[in-house]
Amino acid sequence: MKTFILFLAFIAPTVVFAASSSSIAWTPETLNFVKHGNAEKGKELAQTCAACHGEEGVSAMPETPSLAGQLATYTYKELRDYASDQRSHPVMTSIAKGLSDQDAADLAVWFASLKPAVGEAGKQLAKAEKMVEEGDGKRILPPCFVCHGANGQGEKLDIPALSGQRADYLAKTLLEYKTGQRHNDIYSRMRLIAQQLSETEIKDLAQYYQQSK
Ligand code: HEC
Ligand code: HEC
Repeated sequence: MKTFILFLAFIAPTVVFAASSSSIAWTPETLNFVKHGNAEKGKELAQTCAACHGEEGVSAMPETPSLAGQLATYTYKELRDYASDQRSHPVMTSIAKGLSDQDAADLAVWFASLKPAVGEAGKQLAKAEKMVEEGDGKRILPPCFVCHGANGQGEKLDIPALSGQRADYLAKTLLEYKTGQRHNDIYSRMRLIAQQLSETEIKDLAQYYQQSK
């Protein structure tokens, strides 16, 4: 909540998109529902995800995200957003439409229980690191860490973990926020940021987070 208030201060002069962007509203009922997802049931259902997202939820395919260790609330939200066409992708839309609310909660809790992918140190990415830690006051860009956490581990509710995530996926989805093709971020939080990032910055930030632990 604190980070959200902080962010509202950042975007106060801009207009917040009026149309609802997600099928999910974070009511106590929704939170309670996701929290009580059945991991055993989720594990069974997850067999149909393994070919793409990996046996243990760690993806080996560049543009397919890992799901292991992701916040259950975030995974649940994304599955419901694909199902309601608030987020779209040729493969995931039809898969998510075949899942019930309960299936989505069960899967989300199962994937959250798995060990996250671990990043490996690689390139020095000083500019990306600066953006993550300090943002850019000139462009009213808040540092990524205020929302995504000091180690990219994600924060409450719908702010996903990014560390160890596949760089090609991160870059692709950031570009989609930038163009508005992906628009299921509540309050336009990621679109407002991605719009201001250059394609080079996006590539470097994606690589930075893949490498981060
Ligand atoms: C045929 C390959 C394939 C299968 C099978 C598949 N997925 Fe996906 N999944 C993808 C791809 C590719 C993406 C990236 C889509 C995008 O860019 O929007 C994705 C994205 C996702 C996301 C969004 C993650 C994020 O970080 O935003 C979730 C959640 C997800 N899949 C869950 C599942 C679940 C649960 C199953 C099984 C019931 C499943 N997927 C089966 C390929 C697949
Ligand atoms: C004000 C809080 C906030 C800040 C600051 C922020 N993010 Fe986000 N980010 C979010 C939220 C919320 C989502 C999930 C939106 C959704 O539901 O689609 C998200 C999603 C993402 C995703 C999609 C992950 C996935 O698995 O699909 C990426 C990549 C990302 N952010 C990168 C960044 C980077 C890089 C920065 C810094 C330049 C940044 N974010 C700064 C709140 C923030």
